[in-house]
Amino acid sequence: MYKKPIGIFDSGVGGLTVFKEIRKRFPFEDIIYFGDTARVPYGSKSRKTVIEYSIQNARFLIQQGAKIIVVACNTSSATALTQLQKLLPVPVLGVIEPGALSAVKTSSNKRIGVIGTEGTIRSQAYSSAISKLDKDCDVFSKACPLFVPLAEEGWESHEVTQLTIKEYLTSFLKHGIDTLVLGCTHYPILKTSIQKFVGNKITLVDSSEAVTDKLNEILPNRENKVTGQDWFYVSDNEEKFNLIASKILNMKIDKLIKVKLGEGWFLN
Ligand code: DGL
Repeated sequence: MYKKPIGIFDSGVGGLTVFKEIRKRFPFEDIIYFGDTARVPYGSKSRKTVIEYSIQNARFLIQQGAKIIVVACNTSSATALTQLQKLLPVPVLGVIEPGALSAVKTSSNKRIGVIGTEGTIRSQAYSSAISKLDKDCDVFSKACPLFVPLAEEGWESHEVTQLTIKEYLTSFLKHGIDTLVLGCTHYPILKTSIQKFVGNKITLVDSSEAVTDKLNEILPNRENKVTGQDWFYVSDNEEKFNLIASKILNMKIDKLIKVKLGEGWFLN
């Protein structure tokens, strides 16, 4: 049981922010990461499509022996978590509830902002999770779709990124929030630029940290003599993934394998 890996999936490179946090806190666990680089972005796709892709991704990780699935993608978590939990034989964790909990604990004025993809914002998953935890919280949401390609491009602090942040967030800040949930795996890649723009009075909530806390409750971190290994799978463009992943994770990616998606099956 111990050496069965933790499985993480995302629509692309964004979930590496979740991988990074889990790797840091679980140094002895094996981890398999799947980035669906052939079908990214999920944020602008229909609910039906996101559910279908999410089930395929999770099944693939289970075929590789995953003992638990972390749905790093906010869009998948917002759309497909219930179906995944019903269908899969292993525990499935999403990022929305841990992120919502962390936001409620962080906010003093109970005015919380949530930014995410169109799919995540449309689903209202964060606002309902926050309201369930504290009905007195006011939640203000905004889709920021252009942040995803900017993060995928590796433009963390590029001038274009700063202009885009300004365009999306200037009027949004009028809501007087004190907490801002980065409700998309890609956004922590832009965290320094976002924090610089919103200022230090607003606390950014990164769901990668929140979901790792939750994982720790289910799977207490155990010591072992052998350091955990990592496997990365992508559905396309492994060179680009390798480049961005090495930069985000600050490590050399040894095991990176491309898999082809089929109707619920993956062919090498
Ligand atoms: N990973 C997705 C999320 O967290 C963002 C990228 C996409 O649109 O696929 O929502």
